Amino acid sequence: MSNNRQLRLGTILHGASGNMSAWRHPAAIADASINFEFVKETALKAEAGKLDFLFVADGLYINEKSIPHFLNRFEPLTVLSALASVTTHLGLVGTLSTSYSEPFTVARQFASLDHLSKGRAGWNVVTSPLEGSAKNFSREIHPEHALRYRIADEYLDVVKGLWDSWEEDAFIRDKESGQFFDANKLHTLNHHGDFFKVAGPLNISRTPQGRPIVFQAGASDDGKKLAARHADAIFTHHETLEEAQHFYRDVKGQLANHGRSPEDLHIFQGVSVIVGKDAADVENQYQTTAALVSINDALNYLGRYFEHHDFSQYPLDEAFPDIGDLGQNSFRSTTDEIKRNARERNLTLRQVALEAASPRPRFSGTAQQVADGLQQWFESHAADGFIIQGGTPDTFPRFVDEVVPVLQARGLFRTEYPGTTLRESLGLASPVNQYL
Ligand SMILES: Cc1cc2nc3c(=O)[nH]c(=O)nc-3n(C[C@H](O)[C@H](O)[C@H](O)COP(=O)(O)O)c2cc1C
Repeated sequence: MSNNRQLRLGTILHGASGNMSAWRHPAAIADASINFEFVKETALKAEAGKLDFLFVADGLYINEKSIPHFLNRFEPLTVLSALASVTTHLGLVGTLSTSYSEPFTVARQFASLDHLSKGRAGWNVVTSPLEGSAKNFSREIHPEHALRYRIADEYLDVVKGLWDSWEEDAFIRDKESGQFFDANKLHTLNHHGDFFKVAGPLNISRTPQGRPIVFQAGASDDGKKLAARHADAIFTHHETLEEAQHFYRDVKGQLANHGRSPEDLHIFQGVSVIVGKDAADVENQYQTTAALVSINDALNYLGRYFEHHDFSQYPLDEAFPDIGDLGQNSFRSTTDEIKRNARERNLTLRQVALEAASPRPRFSGTAQQVADGLQQWFESHAADGFIIQGGTPDTFPRFVDEVVPVLQARGLFRTEYPGTTLRESLGLASPVNQYL
């Protein structure tokens, strides 16, 4: 192990877990996306494994072609608030869009979650890839990619400024003297920018973590720039070790532009995992889950990344169609990758759709083999940690029971939480109030 660097682990809630049709799996809880008992059980299992956090993704637009999990699921901050009262150490990370919300409200909501959870809140900042989102927020158009990132950049300045409204010990509450707070420790933002005018101060005290942990999940050049300036952690996804290492070097290299060090930002690779007793068992588990996805489902799944493009109009067994720039204003980094992969490997539309909708697990095999893969990526600086997505509905409990102990025995992963906050779990420094 190099420099006592510790591996970090989170898990993502994704319905029953597995591919888009995993709800049909014999072991699945079919209504997992909206079943709090299931969510709670997953969170408690993650906490039993000493994982850093539970991550809740989100979106703001659905139609009848959206995957089942997206049709009927909890709003992230609401479900995380409920989890705050049944967990004690697990970080609670929720996705919220800077393109369709107001900084004052969001600063307040995450500050509240940080207080409710005694320092375990994280915000996954996204700019919303789906064009249809505009229709749900009384807007004529979905802001284009570069503009969304300019908005996000200013948005984060505002939210961080609001989180610094009160110094740590600003509330005196002296019953004798009647002094409730110290006016010298109250700071008013008065922000006037290109996109936002926000006076402040925020109507909630400085939070247990100083401020909630900021995640970022876009991987385009603008996304990386935003992360290098603002984020404590990145959620990303790469297919190969080399691509992940390249991304890692690129983002860590940009931190110095903002006076930050490489250890100030953790890079998490989202990886799907299947644990089995041998290769045949893993293949069987994969095939059982893959067989649940019909080709029509797969085409719809693929289409969503490309502004719900209708791929059923093309021949299935010919080369992936030329769809021009479609996808540039939505999931840009993902759609670039899909097109590049199809071109380089000469894939047919059927192959691209099925691979997208039912991807093979990134790491699979026995617990030792899965741990080997994670260790290799970690030690070769492809990731600081991983967000584990079960490749089948029963993978995640097996991951905690079988893989986590191997990582612990190898000294890569903790056996106890170092404290009670997510910031302590992640080993991140406390932020300094900008007014001090
Ligand atoms: C691994 C990963 C996870 C993401 N999760 C979400 C999410 O939960 N909700 C969302 O609206 N967008 C999500 N996004 C989309 C990004 O926030 C971003 O809007 C989109 O990818 C376009 O930005 P990019 O080209 O910089 O990647 C995710 C992107 C990546 C790469």
